[in-house]
Amino acid sequence: MRLVIPAGAPRWRAAALGAVLVLGWLSGVGEHPLGGDHGRPAPHRSAANANAQRPARSGWPALLAIVAVHHRVDCRRAKCVALTFDDGPGPYTARLLDILAAHRAKVTFFLIGRNIRGREALVRRELAEGHAVGAHTWSHPDLTGLSTAALWAQNEQTVREIERAAGFRPTIMRPPYGATNKRVGKAVRRLGLAQIIWDVDTNDWRDRNSRIVARRASRADRGDIVLMHDIHPTTVDAVPKILTALARRGFTFVTVPELLAAHPLRPGRVYFSGSDNTSGDS
Ligand code: NI
Repeated sequence: MRLVIPAGAPRWRAAALGAVLVLGWLSGVGEHPLGGDHGRPAPHRSAANANAQRPARSGWPALLAIVAVHHRVDCRRAKCVALTFDDGPGPYTARLLDILAAHRAKVTFFLIGRNIRGREALVRRELAEGHAVGAHTWSHPDLTGLSTAALWAQNEQTVREIERAAGFRPTIMRPPYGATNKRVGKAVRRLGLAQIIWDVDTNDWRDRNSRIVARRASRADRGDIVLMHDIHPTTVDAVPKILTALARRGFTFVTVPELLAAHPLRPGRVYFSGSDNTSGDS
C-alpha cells in the first residue's frame, strides 16, 4: 500500500494518517495470524476468507478511514485545479481513466446522454474511481435556442440515462457552448442541477494537437476549471503532460464539487471557479 499526501496538504493530515495507521494496526493485533498464532505460517487467504475469519475487528474500517482522510482536499489550503472532460463517454475514455489513475488525479466528466448506451461500465468506472460525473445534455444542442419542452427533455433524459447506467443522480450539468439563460437555469434547477462553466478553454476540439492542448491547460491558475474533451485522442495524449506540468507547479487535481466545496452548489445557479462565482441566479 502506498499513501500519498497531496501537494500542499497540511501537516496535520500526515499526523492523522499516522495515527489512523497505528490504530488500525493495533486493532488487528491478536487476531491476525501473525499476531495470534505465532510460528504458524499464514495461509494464503482470499479477501472474503479474511473477512470471515475476523469479522468484528479487522483492519478494514481503519483502512477506509485512511482513504477518507486521504481524499478530503481543502482547496482553501491546497492549490487546486479542476480538469473537466466533456462529450463522452467515448472510445478514448478508458485510456484517459488509466492515465488519471496512474497519476492519482481526480477530474470531472460531463456526459452526453446519447453516448452512454453501450458504455455504461465506463460511467460506473468514472464514479468508482472518485471522479465526478455531470450531465451535458442528450445531443449537445445550444439550449438557449430550444423550446421549453425540448430544453427540459435534453436535460431530464440525460439525468435518467446516467441514473440507469450507474445508479447515480448527477447534481451538476454543463450547458453546451456555455450557452445559458434564465429559461435554461429554471429547467435545470427543477432537475436539481447546478450549471458549471469553465475558466480555461483549451480549444482542444479545434486544435487537435496534444502539444498545444497541453500548453494551454498547463497555464491554469489556482482554482480554475479547465475545459477539455475526452472524445479526442489528441486531448487524451496531452493529459500526462498536463498532469506532470501542473503537479510540478504544486497543483492538486480535484473534482468540480471538491473545488467549489466552499460554495454549496445551488441548483440552477451558474458557477465558474472556486474563486469567482459572480453570476447567474435564475
Ligand atoms: Ni460539449
